[in-house]
Amino acid sequence: MSTLSIIFVGFGNVGKALYKLLERKREILDEVYGFDYRIVGVATGRHGMALDPSGLPMDLLLEAMNSHGSIAEFHRGPEIKDVFDFIRLSNADVMFENSPVSYKDGQPAINHIRTALEFGMHAITANKGPVVHAHCELTDLAKQQGKRFMFESAVMDGAPIFSLFRGPLPAIELRGFTGILNSCTNLLIGLMEEEKTFDEAVAYAQSIGIAETDPSGDIDGWDAAIKVAALSSVVMGVPLKPADVEREGIRSITPQMILDARAAGERWKLVCTARRDGKGGIKASVKPQRVRPTSPLFSINGTSSFVQFETDVLPGLGIVEGDPSPDTTAYGLLADLINAVRGQ
Ligand SMILES: NC(=O)c1ccc[n+]([C@@H]2O[C@H](COP(=O)([O-])OP(=O)(O)OC[C@H]3O[C@@H](n4cnc5c(N)ncnc54)[C@H](OP(=O)(O)O)[C@@H]3O)[C@@H](O)[C@H]2O)c1
Repeated sequence: MSTLSIIFVGFGNVGKALYKLLERKREILDEVYGFDYRIVGVATGRHGMALDPSGLPMDLLLEAMNSHGSIAEFHRGPEIKDVFDFIRLSNADVMFENSPVSYKDGQPAINHIRTALEFGMHAITANKGPVVHAHCELTDLAKQQGKRFMFESAVMDGAPIFSLFRGPLPAIELRGFTGILNSCTNLLIGLMEEEKTFDEAVAYAQSIGIAETDPSGDIDGWDAAIKVAALSSVVMGVPLKPADVEREGIRSITPQMILDARAAGERWKLVCTARRDGKGGIKASVKPQRVRPTSPLFSINGTSSFVQFETDVLPGLGIVEGDPSPDTTAYGLLADLINAVRGQ
């Protein structure tokens, strides 16, 4: 049995959930997939960095982080200058990159992943930035290095979206997709249907950790647009950037509009769509739309998400992900790890 050395770049909600899931699945990884792992490095933004080739004391490290302390006291070895130095010095087999997303240019995550691949690691991320801004470059680099760049969790968390088009649907022609890809706005619209004002809904979503302190990335449709761009780029093979997606967020939805929709038996949803334009491109949008009860989008509630693919042979193949959490995201990363190790 081999033992993989693992490093985490970014160790927030997702990184911590992944650590716990890895611990929970250690026996299955060993018995079914034939490998064990050792966590040899953790790098954060404000909590410092630590490498220990013999394995970090993760419980103590988590305790330090939870009491808002630095993790630098757990570092063993030469001084680390920056995250790139951390990646190079780690000698790891696998890097999990889960730093904050940059919608604009995907950095610094792209450079983290490039460095890890150059140093012979598999690079696995839930970060959408590198998928949209550097998918081809990083995939080619991984191939040259005999390693994998994987990102299942970047869209719809742990639901198998990208891997669906890697294997189980050979020779299929994907014509487009429709979905609800942003949990936060779906929750906010639902709260407005329960007669909360927009501001009350945002405050509630912030209080339960669904909306960020600055929720504009969700509310103005950027998160949904980057997911549409990621799906278009990877599963439809037409590179799009978030700015290429026609985008309108949910700020324009008023209580009266919600009431009018209800009176007609309809609901407002922030609908994501992409469809081939017949000229080699894709027309993609994120915008609020009224949906009827016959639409599969109608019954997607709370933080759940949904995508329906339109293909030449399966006219409507849909996937619902109910109430995701960082644990769900962690599962996509774990699945990527297993698939990278067994070459799938
Ligand atoms: N939350 C979800 O369920 C979910 C779902 C799908 C995808 N994602 C994606 O997963 C990624 C992580 O999300 P999260 O919820 O875990 O975020 P988070 O809780 O904010 O954690 C981000 C982590 O990255 C660290 N960090 C910040 N800047 C860094 C840098 N320059 N270099 C290295 N580390 C840095 C932070 O350290 P400090 O705290 O010390 O600053 C923190 O450990 C994001 O790209 C997000 O879009 C998240």
